[in-house]
Amino acid sequence: DDWELKICCMGAGYVGGPTMAVIAKRCPKIRVCVVDISQKQIDAWKTDDLPIYEPGLLEVVQECRGRNLFFSTDIAAEIEAADIIFISVNTPTKTQGIGAGRAANIKNCELCARTIADVATTGKIVVEKSTVPVRTAQAIARVLQSNEKGLKFQVLSNPEFLAEGTAIADLMKPDRVLIGGQQSEEGLAAAAKLVSVYAHWVPREQIITTNLWSSELSKLVANAFLAQRVSSINSISALCEATGADVLEISRAVGMDDRIGKRFLQPSIGFGGSCFQKDILNLVYLCETYGLNECAAYWNQVILMNDFQKKRFSEKIVASMFNTVTGKKIAMLGYAFKKDTGDVRETPSMFVLRDLVHEQAHVHVYDPQVKREDMWIEMDYTCGMNKDNTPRLEESVVTAPDAYAACEKAHALLILTEWDEFKTYDYKKIYESMMKPAFVFDGRNLLDHDALRAIGFEVHALGKPDPLKFSDL
Ligand code: NAD
Ligand code: UDX
Repeated sequence: DDWELKICCMGAGYVGGPTMAVIAKRCPKIRVCVVDISQKQIDAWKTDDLPIYEPGLLEVVQECRGRNLFFSTDIAAEIEAADIIFISVNTPTKTQGIGAGRAANIKNCELCARTIADVATTGKIVVEKSTVPVRTAQAIARVLQSNEKGLKFQVLSNPEFLAEGTAIADLMKPDRVLIGGQQSEEGLAAAAKLVSVYAHWVPREQIITTNLWSSELSKLVANAFLAQRVSSINSISALCEATGADVLEISRAVGMDDRIGKRFLQPSIGFGGSCFQKDILNLVYLCETYGLNECAAYWNQVILMNDFQKKRFSEKIVASMFNTVTGKKIAMLGYAFKKDTGDVRETPSMFVLRDLVHEQAHVHVYDPQVKREDMWIEMDYTCGMNKDNTPRLEESVVTAPDAYAACEKAHALLILTEWDEFKTYDYKKIYESMMKPAFVFDGRNLLDHDALRAIGFEVHALGKPDPLKFSDL
């Protein structure tokens, strides 16, 4: 075989799959194989019903699969064949033991390193793609070096900055690629080799190299800063509702300052997704570990504000609907944590659903991509709510085939995810099919509220002045 290079990626999830697909697309002479311990996951990657939904992903996979992109569960053979091995496995928050609820569990990363040390017969470059606590590379290196074959490994950190829903676009045109390595001759050579892979399509000045610890820590810091912006604007949305100011006007006015910037100032019912909360908790735990309690408390506040925002939304629904939703049908449009994904990990919608189930409402959920079984898995994992401890759970939550069915005879409709299709509906028809007064709670400021009010809806929107309360507008 005359491949320019051979890459193996351990972990075929939201990051491993799309990242490797784009490397394969941009580097036709590099052989890329994604491996996983889950046979089901690998089988799905071999079909056109991919295990994750991501716009543009299927086209890239179809173009490269069988050419230079492969999926396999033969982990040992693929490790042995590879020059560079990415570790792209999940690193969830620990649920028990030391640091439970905060520290990231890197057991999967360590396991990958042990497997590599075990089966490799030549030295490799091992790349941390997973988001990990700072200094994890040291642990990985020690595990690798403990092989009894005298093999030499180089560990690099190459965190991933893609966002779900835009993964392919982000990977094709990243703001930057970050590569951290040991500042030794071998370390620099390994980093240069990884730079040469990305240089196939990323401008050289956007590929930055740093020491290992800066690279690992930059990832946590980037996510903490992004989440902080969301919590900041969400805190202002609450103040707007109390004062009659309009949070969207504030985002615009504030964001036009170049130093602040326009993006990530959209108020929401709270940020969700598998990364923000986990990575901030990871940062908080690191600060505490080094005795920096003020730094820990500072970043923890971003999470407390997010919890407040989620709770505030459920409370507003109940309070506005005459303090009771018991027995009422409520339509929930959107369940994924953002548009263009079917991912429900840490989705803020889940907390609203939990609260409404506790209030004994009948909730009809419509989301274009979310699978019902995934809702239950995440609900149990994150909220500890399942059909054993909540016997009415399955019957109080209906997954509707479309939005119109979800809204029929409902007392309220909630917009929880900013799916584009929600903007295109016939809201007059929806209004006519609903109970009156017909409430809209727009958790994303997605819809045209004046138009809805003209139809007859009572509209409550995040951080927007409520005309019922502020008649002096
Ligand atoms: P995921 O859960 O979608 O995928 C992880 C995969 O790793 C699973 O398919 C699992 O079966 C597999 N796996 C676990 N242990 C393994 C092992 N020992 N050998 C082989 N495969 C194994 O997770 P993800 O969302 O892709 O996240 C992966 C990492 O990337 C995490 O550290 C995450 O913080 C980080 N990250 C995620 C995103 C995102 O948007 N999801 C973005 C940037 C960074
Ligand atoms: C995030 C980071 O953006 C990405 O760089 C990192 O690699 C992984 O974590 P992701 O979680 O996929 O990506 O999506 P993101 O677009 O960041 O949104 C996260 C959450 O914040 C969503 O629930 C989203 O709705 C919310 N959000 C985002 C807001 O509420 N307001 C905003 O202005 C932006």
